[in-house]
Amino acid sequence: MHYETDKNNHGLPFNPFKSCVVPRPIAWISTLSREGCANLAPFSQFNIVGWDPPYIMFAASAHPVGARRKDSVCNVQETGEFVFNMATYDLRDAVNKSAMYVEADVDEFELAKRNPRSTSSRRGSPPRRCTSSACISRRWCCPVTAPRPHSTW
Ligand SMILES: Cc1cc2nc3c(=O)[nH]c(=O)nc-3n(C[C@H](O)[C@H](O)[C@H](O)COP(=O)(O)O)c2cc1C
Repeated sequence: MHYETDKNNHGLPFNPFKSCVVPRPIAWISTLSREGCANLAPFSQFNIVGWDPPYIMFAASAHPVGARRKDSVCNVQETGEFVFNMATYDLRDAVNKSAMYVEADVDEFELAKRNPRSTSSRRGSPPRRCTSSACISRRWCCPVTAPRPHSTW
């Protein structure tokens, strides 16, 4: 099959672009806003991109509403910190809940019924998910905005 990504002329019920790279594990990214509001969001577009020094990246698409950025991105840009939590199958319901679009001042740990007080990170200030099998705190973030046609950012 041949199709053009800007035309989406594939004739399939769903856009096959993301299915070209599967399976993708899910990062459950926790951040804090400047005001201290906790945010949780799943990202399948993530990976480690180096181990010496250890780097982790996650990629956020555009927010569906206007020229707004996703809260996770705003928080990382404001604080320079995020925590990667591995999203495992047993956490799937809470992970899906945390993918809802809500206002930036909504505590998504409360939304996903997670308690950030008992799961504060040892190093990074964003809370971590204590039952994740792996949690990695990252500082010194380098946000990159990829160019896109007709960008309003
Ligand atoms: C399993 C799963 C994987 C997702 N992966 C991504 C991703 O890689 N990039 C992205 O921009 N959004 C992804 N999303 C959607 C975001 O999680 C969603 O937009 C989230 O609400 C953003 O929250 P925020 O505004 O609090 O940062 C994913 C959602 C789900 C359920």
